[in-house]
Amino acid sequence: MDLTHKVAVVTGAASGIGRAIAIGLAEAGARVAAVDINGDGLIDTAPILGPGATTHKVDLCDQQAISALRDEVITVHGLPHVIVNAAGFDQVEPFMQNSDALWESLVAVNFLGPIRLTRAFLEPILAQHHRAKIVNIASDAGRVGSLGETVYSGTKGGLIAFTKSLARELAPHQINVNCVCPGPTDTPLFATLPPKVRSGLIRAIPFRRLGTPAEVADAVLFFASDYSDFVTGQVLSVSGGLTMVG
Ligand SMILES: NC(=O)c1ccc[n+]([C@@H]2O[C@H](COP(=O)([O-])OP(=O)(O)OC[C@H]3O[C@@H](n4cnc5c(N)ncnc54)[C@H](O)[C@@H]3O)[C@@H](O)[C@H]2O)c1
Repeated sequence: MDLTHKVAVVTGAASGIGRAIAIGLAEAGARVAAVDINGDGLIDTAPILGPGATTHKVDLCDQQAISALRDEVITVHGLPHVIVNAAGFDQVEPFMQNSDALWESLVAVNFLGPIRLTRAFLEPILAQHHRAKIVNIASDAGRVGSLGETVYSGTKGGLIAFTKSLARELAPHQINVNCVCPGPTDTPLFATLPPKVRSGLIRAIPFRRLGTPAEVADAVLFFASDYSDFVTGQVLSVSGGLTMVG
């Protein structure tokens, strides 16, 4: 796969899946703008992404910061060809114990974050008739639900529906919008789940193991590349067979 001369914006690039995606895109030749709220994680990741990459410490809940990020990326790299919305977070607990503040944060980061970032970049992309590929990282929880992740699942289900609807709207512009749904994947986020939840999830996976961030990145690379030029509005699970949705 050759992404030389392509520019990719990747959120959540300081850790786990987003980091693996940023590395995969950089290895394929893309110049990566790595975005995250975690500045230290970005500093650790930057050397692996090569000299063409830039890092951007941004809170994706902050609309003004997203606009500033968009301007900065375009000034340094030009318009992006690939946008990957991978930043997200989760907190496992029964729905009836959730606080309103948790719901607000889940929606702000996992749902509104990708919406705001996508909209910010689409304005100049559409104005300049530029082609781009958008890949959203949702979750199998958004396809089939997940115990203890009720509102998280709702944000991911929303992201899946957003992906499909935006794909329809952007198809006349030859812009692809697709979604990758990781199943349980070996990242710092997964490590925060209670041990019983973790072992139960692994037992439920037909492959009987966690996915790796690099395996999720492989699916993203497909959607970011020319190999998926005629693929849009699709949802691909990378979950060792955990879900098999028709
Ligand atoms: N690990 C799993 O099992 C799993 C399963 C399904 C889906 N996912 C999804 O994959 C994506 C990546 O998850 P991960 O497991 O790599 O988690 P992670 O915690 O390792 O990485 C998430 C990154 O998002 C960043 N982030 C969080 N809030 C942010 C904000 N407001 N602004 C900017 N950056 C922010 C974090 O700093 C972190 O670097 C998430 O969207 C997650 O929901 C993960």
